[in-house]
Amino acid sequence: MGELRGTHVPVLLERCLELLAPALDRPGSTVHVDATLGLAGHAEAVLEAHPRTTLIGLDRDTEALAHARARLARFADRVHLVHAVYDELPEVLDRLGVPAVDGILFDLGVSSLQLDEPDRGFAYARDAPLDMRMDQTRGTTAEEVVNTYSHPDLARVLRTYGEERFAGRIASAIIRERQRARITSTARLAELVQEAIPAPARRTGGHPAKRTFQALRIEVNKELAALETALPAALDALTVGGRMVVLSYQSLEDRLTKAALAERTRRQGPVDLPVELPGTGPTFRLLSRGAELPGETEVTANPRAASVRLRAAERIDPDAERPGGAERERYRRRVRAMHQGVGLPKGSTVDLRVAPDDGTTTDDEEGEGS
Ligand SMILES: C[S@@+](CC[C@H](N)C(=O)[O-])C[C@H]1O[C@@H](n2cnc3c(N)ncnc32)[C@H](O)[C@@H]1O
Repeated sequence: MGELRGTHVPVLLERCLELLAPALDRPGSTVHVDATLGLAGHAEAVLEAHPRTTLIGLDRDTEALAHARARLARFADRVHLVHAVYDELPEVLDRLGVPAVDGILFDLGVSSLQLDEPDRGFAYARDAPLDMRMDQTRGTTAEEVVNTYSHPDLARVLRTYGEERFAGRIASAIIRERQRARITSTARLAELVQEAIPAPARRTGGHPAKRTFQALRIEVNKELAALETALPAALDALTVGGRMVVLSYQSLEDRLTKAALAERTRRQGPVDLPVELPGTGPTFRLLSRGAELPGETEVTANPRAASVRLRAAERIDPDAERPGGAERERYRRRVRAMHQGVGLPKGSTVDLRVAPDDGTTTDDEEGEGS
């Protein structure tokens, strides 16, 4: 493990802690999942603030995990670090014998460790081999994508994941260049992109290669497919009263998050029915009003925070107040006591989920704050 070049400043840290606190502060021991552990900035703050909370930290990057392990050494007795993609969360929880959790954080995208490491190939501003894999132990590199994808596939990736207006022109430039020589470095790719974009457009919207690099990174790591599966699974893993916070840095991630939360915060029953039928109410309530943005002070201090969008939700029991609700509530408390009494019950198969998983409303202006 090399020395860290610079530090990763956790984004919207105070707001994340504030949103997670009511779930993690509940009586007994609680469990928090950091699905994107990175350099463990958020995780360390959670462990410091909640002495009875056990952390399960996931990252697909073994180097990030090594740094996080060192940083969290003083909390070793209540930390489980796992090399996994976050859509593997259900299997990770199964393996640890954890039936349900109280808090979950997703802080999406790349860490400054990945951006700053010279050999990782994420940064257009630094010459490096075209790799871009978050997990360097497996998968396809950006070099393979750039040198083997067809023109339509390259253009689709750049347009969809990079929202790149000149996707077709950039794809053509890549195809032309690779017929001459294989493209192997970030510097050569950045140069090609720059040349392919018309001069007037180069003067706006940041570095011309920024969108292409983002698109390739998302494609290489299959980031959106993993997120699409991971979000509903994470919501399923929460206890009633459990909370999830998601920090997204580009619009496709934020749209997926919004959709996953909308699915659980809307009603399911017939719209024209005057009363809500049991099992058809929302199973989550939004804690954020739309997507929350960072303040100016944070963006000035930490430019990485500029594009962040925060969304958060809490699991509720829609039937707690209805006939049968009291019984369900007693069951919930009994199971919860078991869960808390023994910390992390190994091999337990108890399911803490008492609310049905389906709900239906889309309006994300319904957030009520924490
Ligand atoms: C923005 S950083 C997290 C920083 C962290 N919150 C901190 O305070 O240090 C994102 C991390 O998530 C990891 N990551 C991204 N996609 C992942 C996925 N699908 N599964 C697991 N880890 C992922 C990356 O490797 C990176 O280390």
